[in-house]
Amino acid sequence: MRTYLVTGGAGFIGSNYIHYMFRKYGDEIRIINADALTYAGNLENLRDIEGRENYTFIKADITDQPAIEKIFAENDIDRVVHFAAESHVDRSIKDPSVFVRTNVLGTAVMLNCAKAAWENPDGSFKEGKKFLHVSTDEVYGSLPDDGTSFFREDTPYDPHSPYSASKAGSDLLVKSYMDTYHFPANITNTSNNYGPFQFPEKLIPLMINNALSGKPLPVYGDGRNIRDWLYVDDHAKGIDMVQEQGRLFQTYNIGGHNEKRNIEIVELIIDTLLAELPDDDPRKKNVSRDLITYVGDRKGHDRRYAIAPDKIRAEIGWEPETPFAEGIKKTIRWYLNNEEWLANVTSGNYQKYYEDMYSNR
Ligand code: NAD
Ligand code: TYD
Repeated sequence: MRTYLVTGGAGFIGSNYIHYMFRKYGDEIRIINADALTYAGNLENLRDIEGRENYTFIKADITDQPAIEKIFAENDIDRVVHFAAESHVDRSIKDPSVFVRTNVLGTAVMLNCAKAAWENPDGSFKEGKKFLHVSTDEVYGSLPDDGTSFFREDTPYDPHSPYSASKAGSDLLVKSYMDTYHFPANITNTSNNYGPFQFPEKLIPLMINNALSGKPLPVYGDGRNIRDWLYVDDHAKGIDMVQEQGRLFQTYNIGGHNEKRNIEIVELIIDTLLAELPDDDPRKKNVSRDLITYVGDRKGHDRRYAIAPDKIRAEIGWEPETPFAEGIKKTIRWYLNNEEWLANVTSGNYQKYYEDMYSNR
């Protein structure tokens, strides 16, 4: 039975990945989820798998080397899937330091602990051990707005935000371990994800949440920045396929020609909410295009992200499976049906965050 150490499994993508893996492998695998439970980590995301015998949650900070060493000492880990990170660009602009700590130093700790646990006395690594570092396409910087160029695995790194710079730093550390020690790893660089359990500080859940409560929908700049959207289950599947079928030491970009301008997304969310909400739902009267409010631009706002997934398609046969029209409907329905989850994560500190982030825009 393969044992996985998943970091950041209580966050958005990590929790969807854990669900995906249990759907796919059932009792054939064991998952240990190590997460510090920052504002972005929420065990509610994993409520339905809590009782499984082949699942363990450990509250641990990835910068705490003794805590991570202990997990490796007590378990024969076969796979590391490393999601844990500070992940929000706007927060990184306000306070970069925690991004450097978690994303760079935390990744160094994960690499050191895996290397120490997996290394043979002659410097080779135990058979079958693999580390997958989950990263972002934002490390490649920004593309021109003409739709002709794409991020590929050999696109030079050119990060602009403290978030993407810290992720680039972590990627380069992983690369250095592969180059120096022949450490058995892969890196995946993925485009913007959407789906259930995403914290409502990111574009799609923030707009859904605001629209449902009749709050302004803050569109940065001219609203014409482009992101390449991927349904989170397709990402989870891609990660698993890269780890099991990909060539070690390789980077794979995961994304797939689903470019949208921000304003298109905001309008689609409003239209979908109006179509999905029954007339007698009190939230329906709040939803309107009049809520769209153009606000000051994000500092250093990257114009366009877009991935050419040619390598992962050719080598592994991965393709995004969820058309955007279907994925966004599923996502909106999930938020409509999980009012309590949304209410819980937007109470308390979220109000303060929102005030701080949006009051001066
Ligand atoms: P998220 O913010 O929803 O979740 C991050 C998780 O990491 C949380 O559960 C949090 O508690 C945990 N965490 C944070 N600091 C930690 C620490 N010091 N020790 C242990 N756990 C800690 O993020 P996400 O959107 O799920 O992203 C997961 C990963 O995927 C990140 O590495 C991110 O860079 C990458 N990624 C995200 C996207 C996207 O669109 N969201 C796209 C590409 C890549
Ligand atoms: P975001 O979800 O923060 O992801 P990222 O910055 O990592 O791509 O933002 C997606 C796009 O939406 C980005 O161009 C910024 C924009 N945006 C807004 O216009 N308003 C908002 O309130 C937020 C959170 C984002």
